[in-house]
Order: sequence, then structure tokens, then C-alpha cells
Amino acid sequence: MKCVVTGCAGFIGSHLAERLLQEGWKVVGVDSLTPYYSPELKRRNLASLERHESFEFIKRDILELSMRELRGAEVVFHEAAQPGVRASWGESFAEYTRANVLATQRLLEMCRELELQKFVYASSSSVYGDVSTLPMHEALLPKPVSPYGVTKLAAEHLCYLYWKNYGVPTVSLRYFTVYGPRQRPDMAFHRFARALYSGEEIQIYGDGRQTRDFTFIRDVVSATLRSAESEAEGEAINIGGGSRVELIQALELLAELSGKTPRIKRLERQHGDVRDTLADITRARRILNWKPEVRLEEGLREFVEWYEREMLT
Ligand SMILES: NC(=O)c1ccc[n+]([C@@H]2O[C@H](COP(=O)([O-])OP(=O)(O)OC[C@H]3O[C@@H](n4cnc5c(N)ncnc54)[C@H](O)[C@@H]3O)[C@@H](O)[C@H]2O)c1
Repeated sequence: MKCVVTGCAGFIGSHLAERLLQEGWKVVGVDSLTPYYSPELKRRNLASLERHESFEFIKRDILELSMRELRGAEVVFHEAAQPGVRASWGESFAEYTRANVLATQRLLEMCRELELQKFVYASSSSVYGDVSTLPMHEALLPKPVSPYGVTKLAAEHLCYLYWKNYGVPTVSLRYFTVYGPRQRPDMAFHRFARALYSGEEIQIYGDGRQTRDFTFIRDVVSATLRSAESEAEGEAINIGGGSRVELIQALELLAELSGKTPRIKRLERQHGDVRDTLADITRARRILNWKPEVRLEEGLREFVEWYEREMLT
């Protein structure tokens, strides 16, 4: 089986590609190594993939891909995006629309020509915005509160209409705050770890009592693989870790596991940050026969081990 993984040098894409190779897939990985965070880190994410003979890396922007690179693929895993909620305001929105909306549309357009088993789109819990009742379930009307969330939702709609009109077998997975080894350096646990180990102040936005449904990377990868083999088409599915934890509690746990004492600096709540997230995963259980397996403490322990091994040297 041959598949394409866009964003294969990123946090989630590199783990996904690794697992696909382990399971015997031939993987064509596409990534333009954008400067959103250090391309050096992305090169490191690629290192073990590039040693694998069934892996082919194409360093290219999705907007410059041609049919030649996609031909023969049975599944497209579309993980590439310009991520980050807080950076998506102002002038940088142009990059968000280009990488998240336009690139997705071009990719879907090319996929009309392929005999795909599935097109899996990495969507986000950020499409929901601030909801009045938790948990968030897929039937709610999405109302993103950040420009990033708007672009992720727009791309979901594109996935839906390429399925509805052209039969491209799309499924959108709404990932909830993913963490684990190789987490992006702008995400909370990675920022916290950087500050803990360097003795700097940890910046917490708002009162720290905002809650997140943290999802471990291995669980996200399993759900993504299941979706490729599932019957799901033309719909969105929540992928969440199954428990809701206050940011400040998660930080305390991380500090305990790393044996460091945090020095906290509180900053104003940021525009675009949602207050709480919690996934209703009934649909994922039913359609994908999937549920999260890794509890926060276990996942954070793996994250700390990785951080000490890879980021402190
Ligand atoms: N990390 C999370 O918690 C989270 C949560 C919800 C949704 N998501 C979604 O999951 C996907 C992966 O996120 P991540 O955290 O691994 O991000 P990441 O930034 O680590 O990975 C994305 C990769 O895509 C590449 N890329 C961006 N635009 C591209 C383009 N036009 N052409 C080719 N390559 C391009 C980047 O260079 C990067 O390596 C994204 O679609 C993101 O929106 C992530």
C-alpha cells in the first residue's frame, strides 16, 4: 500500500509516517520545512524516516506538487498546515489562508484524479470555539474564535464538498491538543519544559485554570490509521484524550516528573484562546472502534524522557 503524508517533517506527521513504515506502507512524505519553527528540528524529525527504504521525501510546498508525486497513492494523510492559534491574527493570516485553505483545495483537486481509499484531513478542536456546554460533539455548530480555527474549518468544508460533489473519500479528524515527544516548540508542554530546564519563568496566559483535553501522540496516530481503514466518509470525528485537565495542574505534573520547581509568570489571556475543551468521542468509538489508551501522567513521562534525551544535548 502506498500513501502520501503531507507535513511529514512536523510533530504529528513524522510520528504518523514512522508508524506507517513500521506497518509496511510505502510512504511518500511531502513537507516544505516552513520557518514557523526551526527547520533544523524538522530535519531531525525526518532523520529516522529517511533511513527507511520505503520512504521517499519530497521537499516541496503542496501548492507546487504535481500529479506525478501522488500517482499510485491509496491514502492521502493531509497533516501539513500553518499551525498556532495566537500567531494567526493580523498580517500573518495570509500565510494561514495559503497553507491551510488554498493548499488543501489544490490537494483535493488533484485527488479527484486518484482512486483513493481515503483522504484523511487533520482538523482541529479549534473549529468549535467557546461552547456553552461540554463535551464538544460533532453536531454542534462550529464557531471558531481564532483566525487559525477559521482556516481549519474552511478546509473541513472543502473536504466535505469534494466528497459530496466528486466522491473524494474524505474524513476530517478533529484532534484535541496533541502532546508527546517532538511536540512543537510553541505548544504549552514544550514551552514549559524549556523554561523548567533553563530556570526561566514559565509564562501562563490567563489564570491557568483553562482546561484542555490533552491527547497523546500515539493515540492520535492510532486514530488516524483507523480512519484510513474505516467506512467514514464526508464527516468529522473528534479525537480527544478522554479527560479534562487544568493547564496549571498539567504544569504541576510536568514539574514533578522533571524534578524542577516552576517559577510562574502570569500574562493576560490571549485573543483566540478558548477557555475549555473536552471531546465527546462517542463517534470515534463507534466508527473507528478507537479510544485513547495513554493517560496524561504516562504520556508526560514519555515526553520528559524525550526532552531530556533529545533537547538537552
Ligand atoms: N499539534 C496539535 O495539538 C494539533 C491539534 C489540532 C490539529 N492539529 C493539526 O495537525 C496537523 C499537524 O500539526 P503539527 O502540530 O504536527 O504541526 P507541525 O507544524 O509540526 O507540522 C506541520 C508541517 O507542515 C509543513 N507545511 C506547512 N505548510 C506546508 C505546505 N504548504 N506545503 C508543504 N508542507 C507544509 C510544515 O513545514 C510542518 O513541518 C496540522 O494540520 C494541525 O493544524 C494539530
